[in-house]
Amino acid sequence: MAAVTSPDLRARRRFHRRLLAWYARHGRDLPWRRTRDPYRILVSEIMLQQTQVDRVIPKYREFLGRYPTFQQLADARLPDVTRAWYPLGYYRRAKHLHGIARETVARYGGRLPDEGAELLRLGGIGRYTAGAILAFAHRKDAALVDTNVRRVLGRVFLGARRLARLRGERTMWDLAESLVPAGRAYDYNQALMDFGATWCTARKPKCPRCPMKTFCRSYDRAGA
Ligand code: ADE
Repeated sequence: MAAVTSPDLRARRRFHRRLLAWYARHGRDLPWRRTRDPYRILVSEIMLQQTQVDRVIPKYREFLGRYPTFQQLADARLPDVTRAWYPLGYYRRAKHLHGIARETVARYGGRLPDEGAELLRLGGIGRYTAGAILAFAHRKDAALVDTNVRRVLGRVFLGARRLARLRGERTMWDLAESLVPAGRAYDYNQALMDFGATWCTARKPKCPRCPMKTFCRSYDRAGA
């Protein structure tokens, strides 16, 4: 299909305003939102790649009790790190995290890179996680697209038919990038994730109570 054009400034502002107001009332208080430490934020994002929030929370705390810094994780032996990862599964993530810690210490003086291209060179960091690290750990104006974000933006700005015809991820990333509000990417992206996870859900979206319903392109079809 043709490229997705970005919503105009008024539509973008309205979306930001409603989303951030919603987040102030309904956003989740999650442990990785109480820190500014890039290491902790990285650990959370790697854990959240394939594991639900509820299961990540206790392991996140336990893992950080055991390996509180890049240096301590880099000094650890991989079999011990893998054991500490149990029972989250997808153990390649533990290996990747350990590798990232070693690279960060050895090549970057203990500071997690703050450029997308450098992050993408580290094993285990794809475009989504790079965006999350830029926005959450480095407070940059970065976009991120995961299944929740894709669903929310697709419903609100495209509607079911156009979303179904959307091929590949490029246009969705273009749309997501065009929407990031300058200087607010941290709250905006956290809000977008919570909105997708708890409100604009795949099966039972809360359309009647939705702050976007006056302009959402899927309002009629999404189960209202
Ligand atoms: N999934 C991935 N990253 C997340 C975050 N920062 N908060 C909630 N869910 C997430």
